[in-house]
Amino acid sequence: MLKVVKKLDKGLRGEIIIPADKSVSHRAIMFSSIAKGQCNVRNFSSGADCHSTLNIFKQLGVNIEFVDEKTVHVKSNGVLNSKNIDLPPLDAGNSGTTTRLIAGILARQNFDSTIIGDESLSKRPMKRIIEPLTLMGAEISSTEGHLPLKIYGRKLQGISYQSKLASAQVKSCILLAGLGAEGKTTFIEPYISRNHTELLLDYLGADINVNKNEVTIYPSELYAKDITVVGDISSAAFFIVAGLVVEGSDFVIKNVGLNPTRAGILDVLKRMGGGIEIFNKTICSGENVGDIRVRYNDCLKGCVIEGDDIPRLIDELPVIAVLASQADGDTVVKNAEDLRNKESDRIKCLVCELTKIGIDIEETADGFIVHGQRGKLKGGAELESYHDHRLAMSFYVAGLISKKEIGINGFEWTKISFPEFEELFGLLVN
Ligand code: S3P
Repeated sequence: MLKVVKKLDKGLRGEIIIPADKSVSHRAIMFSSIAKGQCNVRNFSSGADCHSTLNIFKQLGVNIEFVDEKTVHVKSNGVLNSKNIDLPPLDAGNSGTTTRLIAGILARQNFDSTIIGDESLSKRPMKRIIEPLTLMGAEISSTEGHLPLKIYGRKLQGISYQSKLASAQVKSCILLAGLGAEGKTTFIEPYISRNHTELLLDYLGADINVNKNEVTIYPSELYAKDITVVGDISSAAFFIVAGLVVEGSDFVIKNVGLNPTRAGILDVLKRMGGGIEIFNKTICSGENVGDIRVRYNDCLKGCVIEGDDIPRLIDELPVIAVLASQADGDTVVKNAEDLRNKESDRIKCLVCELTKIGIDIEETADGFIVHGQRGKLKGGAELESYHDHRLAMSFYVAGLISKKEIGINGFEWTKISFPEFEELFGLLVN
C-alpha cells in the first residue's frame, strides 16, 4: 500500500496514550505460558508480532483467551504440549523476538518442534542463538543459520557464556533455556541490553541475579501473576521526534515505558539540546513508566551516538536520523553494525531512502553520519519501506516536514508493531 504524506502546516497538539510495549508483551505471554497458574495480561500489544507469539503458545497447548481487546487470560500448568501431539510448524511471522526467545524454551522440552517465518525473518541470522544453545546440549538444525529451525528437545546443562553481541534476544534465549537446565547459567554481554526478561522473570519468582552486564539464572519454577504492559518507548519515539521537528507542536504522550535500558533516546535528546519534560513517573509490573511532554525545538545540535548507547536505542536509530537532519552539525552513529540484521539492512536502506528526500546522510560500515541542515526537507519522492515497520514510520515523520509530499510503499507493515500509528497522529492534528 502506497501512503502519501503531506507537510503539516500547523503543530501537533493534544494528548495521546501510547500503546503497549512490544518487547514486554511478547515476554508477558511467553512467561505466563510457562508459569504455573492463571493470570491476566493487561494492555497487550495489538501488533502482529506479539500475536505470532500468542498463537504459537496456543498451538503448544496453553489456554489463552482474550477477555477484551487488550486483556489476555493465560492459564497453564507450566507444561507445554502436554498432550504430546505432533506439532505443525510454529509460525513466527516477521518476529525475531518470537523466534529467538521461544527457541530457548523449546530446546529444553521433551518434544521436537520447528519454527518457520516470513521471507524477511527467514533471512535473519540465527547462529547467534544456535551456537550458545548447542553449548548447552541443544540439538538444532537450520538452513545455514537461517529458518526453518528444527529443534530436537533435550535436557540442557547450564553454561557461562560471554556474548560478543549486546542483544536482549540472545540473552533472553539463553536465560529461558537456563531456567529449565541443570545447574546455573550465566550470560555476559559487552553492554547492557534491554532487561525486560530479567525484570519479568524476577517478578514471576525465578531465581535470577544481575550484576551489571552479567546475569545468572538457576533452574526455577515461575508462578503466574497479573501483568500490565507499559507503553512502548520505541513507538513513542516517532511522536517525540515529530513533536521536536514540526513547528508549533506541544503535546503529551502518556504511559511511556521508561526502563533505563530502553530509554537511550532520552539521553541522546539531552545531548542534542532537545529537552522534553517527564512527569507522573511510577512503576508498573516491575517497569518504569511516565508521561512525556514534547515541544517543538529549533535549537537542536548534532551529537555522537556509540558504544553502550546503541543497545539502549537500537530500534530508534532510523527516526533519530530524521531528527538529526533538523539539527545543526553532524550526528555520528557508530558501533551499530547489527542494524544491518534487522527487518531490513537498516543502515543501507535508511541512507538510500532518506537521500531521496534531501537528507544529507552517509553510510558507514557500522552506522551512518547525518550532516544536519535545519529547515524543511525537499521531499517529492516515493520511498521504499523494504517491508520494515520502523522504516515506514520514520519516513512518515520525515514526510510531515517535507516541502513536497512523499509516498511510502509498503506502509501496511506498520501493523507489525504499531497498527494504531496513523490514527494516533490524527488525534494530534486539530
Ligand atoms: C528486542 C531486542 C532487540 C530489538 C528488537 C526487540 C527484544 O533486538 O532490536 O526489536 O525484545 O528483546 P536484538 O536483541 O537483536 O538487538
